[in-house]
This record gives sequence, C-alpha cells and structure tokens, in this order.
Amino acid sequence: MRCGEACEAAALIGPGHLTVVMHNLIQNAISHRVSDRVPEVTASCGPAGNMIEIRVADNGPGIEESMRERVFEMFVKDSHAGGTGIGLALVKRIVRNAKGEVRIEDNKPGTVVIVTLPAAPNPDGLACCA
Ligand SMILES: Nc1ncnc2c1ncn2[C@@H]1O[C@H](COP(=O)(O)OP(=O)(O)O)[C@@H](O)[C@H]1O
Ligand SMILES: [Mg+2]
Repeated sequence: MRCGEACEAAALIGPGHLTVVMHNLIQNAISHRVSDRVPEVTASCGPAGNMIEIRVADNGPGIEESMRERVFEMFVKDSHAGGTGIGLALVKRIVRNAKGEVRIEDNKPGTVVIVTLPAAPNPDGLACCA
C-alpha cells in the first residue's frame, strides 16, 4: 500500500490481504452506524516510525472499551447486527501474519480502527500499490 502522491512509504503486505482488511473495516464502518447521524467514514494512512499506520474512522455508535479486544475473537458480534462476527477476527489474523498489529480507539463519537504494518525499506522500488 502506498501512502501519498510521492509514495514516501509503503506497507509490507500482499495486495490481496490488504484488500480483505480494508474491505472489512470499511464495511463495518458503514454497516455499524447510528440512524440519526449521517454516516462519515474516513480511511487514511501514513508513516509512523518504521511502521505504516492505516486508520479507518467512523462516526457510528462506537465500541465499548470492554469490548475493544473481544470483537477480534471469532463469532463475537452485535446480536442486533446481521453480520457473521468473522470480519475482525480475519482482519486480526491477516495483520498479525504480516507482523502488524490492530487496535480500536474511541473516535468521540464513533470508532477508529488502527492497523500498523511494517514499512517496506524501499517504497519506490515497489512495482504497484494496493
Ligand atoms: N466500526 C464499527 N462501529 C461499531 N461497532 C463495530 C464496528 N466494527 C465492528 N463493530 C462491532 O464488532 C462486532 C464484530 O465485527 P465483525 O467481526 O466485523 O463482525 P460483523 O460485522 O459480521 O458483525 C460487530 O458485530 C459490531 O458489534
Ligand atoms: Mg464486519
């Protein structure tokens, strides 16, 4: 994944895996929303030390602090939502496999999911971006 026009940084992760991660996070940000607010979803990325940080933020209901680790477990989900509870477990598996980390913070209001991935040492040498 390239960050910015000048491609100052790129994350070491396969494009297919990154697509699955981004698809799940953006789908969550859209589907777990509150009915009385116009949904706003922002995806951004940039360098953070020797890692790349990807953030997917929304203005939805947020995730209680006590659940911010548990939602990454397989089949843990909101009983009112129609989902499977698989998405975030898959995201975590893919990110950990790429030697990265994923965590959830409060977006006041809403949720920010933060993925950190190792940066490629030579981003300009990468043939493509995901
Ligand atoms: N952006 C979000 N805003 C609010 N809640 C979320 C968000 N993303 C995930 N969640 C909560 O985490 C649970 C697990 O997410 P996930 O594993 O993707 O399963 P699913 O989306 O199929 O329910 C969801 O059911 C929901 O309760
Ligand atoms: Mg989901």
